[in-house]
Amino acid sequence: MSHVPTIPPAVKKQMDEGTFCPIPFIQLELSPLGSVSACCFSGEYKVGDVADQTIEEIWNGEIIQTWRNEFLTGDIKICEKAIKNFGCQKNYQHLNHLVEYKVIQSKMPQRLDLRLNGKCNLECVMCDVWSQPNGLYDKSDFWSIGPEKIYPYLKEVDMLGGEPFIQKDTFRFIEEVSKINKDCTWGFITNCHYRISKQLRDGLDGLKIRHIHLSMDAITTKTYAAIRLKGDFERVLETVMDYVSIRNEREIQGRGFTLFASICVQRDNWHELPEFLNFCDKHRIQPIVQELIGKHELSLQELKPQYKEELHTLYKEKIPNHYQGHIESILNNLGFID
Ligand SMILES: C[S@@+](CC[C@H](N)C(=O)[O-])C[C@H]1O[C@@H](n2cnc3c(N)ncnc32)[C@H](O)[C@@H]1O
Ligand code: SF4
Repeated sequence: MSHVPTIPPAVKKQMDEGTFCPIPFIQLELSPLGSVSACCFSGEYKVGDVADQTIEEIWNGEIIQTWRNEFLTGDIKICEKAIKNFGCQKNYQHLNHLVEYKVIQSKMPQRLDLRLNGKCNLECVMCDVWSQPNGLYDKSDFWSIGPEKIYPYLKEVDMLGGEPFIQKDTFRFIEEVSKINKDCTWGFITNCHYRISKQLRDGLDGLKIRHIHLSMDAITTKTYAAIRLKGDFERVLETVMDYVSIRNEREIQGRGFTLFASICVQRDNWHELPEFLNFCDKHRIQPIVQELIGKHELSLQELKPQYKEELHTLYKEKIPNHYQGHIESILNNLGFID
């Protein structure tokens, strides 16, 4: 007879209310800086560092145990703001069944959010990641314990960086995992500033892809060049269209995936949001309207009052009803509460 674990009453209550999150029990997020968290939505709350700990030590270390205990007891502090502001826990509740209701987990992480290296081919104005280090995980136990203790049991992976598809580690990781685990599902965030090589096409072809998120930030050459420094919009657009074709082909084969495209709305691109949303509609891409984190000097708050008014009018007139929810927070933050 299979053993059905008893769900602690505090967890049951959160599950009923939709506030429980399995992530601290099942995921590690590895940053290029070598600092390790369970989740990016927490503000990358640090649970360890590969400079002086192994991945195994971090995974059941004191800090992550405290994080898990908050969910076991219902006294949520670390994730309080994230749950309130983003409702991020809802992205992961399909994984609740993977949780052991204990501060120490007997299994290694079953989900990875991987940002192994800072290496990038662009230097976006709102981003610091491209200047972050490379190779720190080569000095840790990540690659040595992975094949035996982590990869066979992975349920989901998210890969970003830096730019994942210009990093050797991405292809190494995909190859090592897919050799022994065909069921893991994959999500990628990419800048599309490259041509899709045979290696990339073949690598993706063998995977169960949940989504590919295309970071665009602009819909014209001029705006792209102002935000995604070193970037060429024409090259990006070609690759975006290649991903649309790959998605369409895979849909016909019955193994489609979601295409997202994002715009990180800021001082230099706010006026392109309506056109960006039209582009997404035209190609059946789901838009993600990202709010700028940090970089106050680039934020919409810094616009002159006249431009804030222009933004309000443009968004109310040109953004279709089905996307008004996507801009609610932007308008609220600018003091426009309709
Ligand atoms: C750091 S990038 C890494 C993946 C890849 N290089 C790319 O650009 O898609 C991941 C995402 O973070 C977003 N991002 C970068 N800096 C940001 C900031 N200051 N605020 C909000 N989002 C940001 C990017 O637009 C991108 O969608
Ligand atoms: S492409 Fe991505 S990682 Fe590179 S600088 Fe831009 S946002 Fe940062």
